[in-house]
Amino acid sequence: MAVALIVAAGRGERLGFDRPKALVTVGGRPMLEWSVDALRAVTSVQEIVVALPSDAVAAAPADTTGVAGGWARSQSVRAALRAAGDGDPVIVQDAARPLAPTQLFCDALDELERSGADAVIAAAPVSDTIKQVGDDRRTVTHTLDRTCLWAVQTPQVFRRAALESALYEASEATLAAATDDAWLVEQAGGEVRVILAPAENLKITTRLDLKLAELLLAEREPVDRTR
Ligand code: C5P
Repeated sequence: MAVALIVAAGRGERLGFDRPKALVTVGGRPMLEWSVDALRAVTSVQEIVVALPSDAVAAAPADTTGVAGGWARSQSVRAALRAAGDGDPVIVQDAARPLAPTQLFCDALDELERSGADAVIAAAPVSDTIKQVGDDRRTVTHTLDRTCLWAVQTPQVFRRAALESALYEASEATLAAATDDAWLVEQAGGEVRVILAPAENLKITTRLDLKLAELLLAEREPVDRTR
């Protein structure tokens, strides 16, 4: 059986509300609850642990375990994993992606089982050309070949042993530098695979993202238990 960790401990300052981003209302309920619902519909999920800011742990939804997150995202993942029971594999989901459909979690778990990889992550090929820009934030220094570039999202699913050793053996500096946990598994020599995420799986960072999410959630059917 699987365990799901939802990281919701970011302050979301770019969104500009007086509460943590995961608790901002979208589609009529706190953003976090959409991911909780999608995960509850994955029948192999036995436990959901939510990392929240230390002063908001009490806002963890019913039937989830709330823990205080860390200063950096991967520290929040580590805190949630430490609080989790013995489920394996481990699903990591950002509360900031309330549109992740249940099917995407199921597809990631299926691919992990089928492939034998250490991790499977939702991602999408980039459609923009990506250029590297210098420290002056003006001068282009390099243009990357976009045919092999994918933008990484959540959910990310892991064999528990691979995630534990990546998180527990990394230094605090490495954890602080990690913008996704799969990178930590890559650093440890693990095999990471991608699955194609649907276009709707956007991350809420700005007020514009919030407006788009409102529109998309308004069209949502209620979720079913599919796995
Ligand atoms: O900041 P960003 O939007 O990239 O954060 C991605 C996810 O990680 C969000 O759901 C946020 O709540 C979570 N996070 C966390 N602990 C932190 C920073 C971010 O749980 N220290």
